[in-house]
Amino acid sequence: MVKIVETSVRDGHQSLFATRMNTEEVVSLARIYDKVGYHAIEVWGGATFDSCLRFLNEDPWERLRLVREACPNTKLQMLFRGQNILGYRHYSDDVVEMFCRKAIENGIDIIRVFDALNDIRNLKMAVESTKKYGGQCQIALSYTTSPVHTIEYYVNLAKEVEKLGTDSLCIKDMAGVLVPEDAEKLVKALKKEISIPLELHSHCTAGVCEMTYMAAIKAGIDIVDTSLSPLSNGTAQPSTQALAVALKGTRHDPKLNFEAIHQAEPLMTKIVNKYVANGLLNPKSLQINPNILTYQVPGGMLSNMIKQLTDQGAMDRYEEVLREIPRVRKDLGYPPLVTPMSQMVGTQAVLNILAGERYKMCAKEVKDYLHGRYGQAPAPINEEVRHKIIGDDEVISCRPADLLKPEFEGLKEKYRDIARCDEDVLSLALFEQVAADFLKKKYGESERAEESSETDEFEMFI
Ligand code: CO
Repeated sequence: MVKIVETSVRDGHQSLFATRMNTEEVVSLARIYDKVGYHAIEVWGGATFDSCLRFLNEDPWERLRLVREACPNTKLQMLFRGQNILGYRHYSDDVVEMFCRKAIENGIDIIRVFDALNDIRNLKMAVESTKKYGGQCQIALSYTTSPVHTIEYYVNLAKEVEKLGTDSLCIKDMAGVLVPEDAEKLVKALKKEISIPLELHSHCTAGVCEMTYMAAIKAGIDIVDTSLSPLSNGTAQPSTQALAVALKGTRHDPKLNFEAIHQAEPLMTKIVNKYVANGLLNPKSLQINPNILTYQVPGGMLSNMIKQLTDQGAMDRYEEVLREIPRVRKDLGYPPLVTPMSQMVGTQAVLNILAGERYKMCAKEVKDYLHGRYGQAPAPINEEVRHKIIGDDEVISCRPADLLKPEFEGLKEKYRDIARCDEDVLSLALFEQVAADFLKKKYGESERAEESSETDEFEMFI
């Protein structure tokens, strides 16, 4: 029997309409999901948290508590970006530990931890903290293709991960580039070498995801991530119902309660229709884009690049930029194209083409990466390129967070006027300005609700 993790209230709306589902909608669905028989429901992650504070004027912690209350019998899962927690930079260990503790105390059962570079040192603190406070830990390996990302690479990594004491392992194919044949080989190889449960998370973006899931299921995967239709397919996960029907009566039958699913469907349709009507759900997100299998570039990254080029009036250079991406990626040691690496590689490719000289201009994040501040690159970095950008600067080889001093108590002191609990301090640690604006509104210290003007340079493609 294959187990199902329902993703609609996290990745589903994140992939299809900018994570704008509100707490009332999420809770109304969670109440029904509790009866479906899912292995877990994914409810929280970086964009979910950010969107509550930034756009919805809602407290993400409150959402979690309400979902927990509505959904007492099913495990709740969150996505956690290793030492980045839910943000874009590395946080000190005390913030990572406190976040895991508070997430579990407020209702999370499973913390899915990943690192963009698959640098195990960036996962360690989150794994230890999750276990310390009684949570289940899952490590997700960022899936990508490159000369170094072979089956052997993933098997070796999985063995290391198992040693860390994680409860399960996930193959996280954020770009939807895993094809059926490779999935079959990878799942078989991993099942042979590791004993903890194995899960697959992918996206329908390229149009092959259902075929890939089927291949993985036949090869012995234990858990797959799906999203309730009509909040499925396109850039999101495959449909929960379609997979359950396809597997019905087979030995892989997930045995979901269709009576409960049929109760959730009209509710979901109403929610989705709202976001179609207000324009947040762009029909383009529902179209498949097999080009990502050719360019190995996530759909979200392509649309970001198109925007950058359009803003510069340089869409005629699109093909050149597409050809530049694999070159930049090779120079940077083949990082998987997931947040924040997808944004770094994409922006650098645009800069290299528009500046007329490679690496003449460079984003701060790329400089930090070349200094080793994001961790170990999967393959050696092109030293000529590194030298051109950061000269003879020292490159760190330790775990990046080892250089960070504790931050939590300092933040608590700094915001003692607006933070009333540790959860508030954590919101401030992750999205400082946005959380400060929100908390002032929440606790009535701001006369009028001000719109936050802060925008993120990075968007999430996870
Ligand atoms: Co995803």
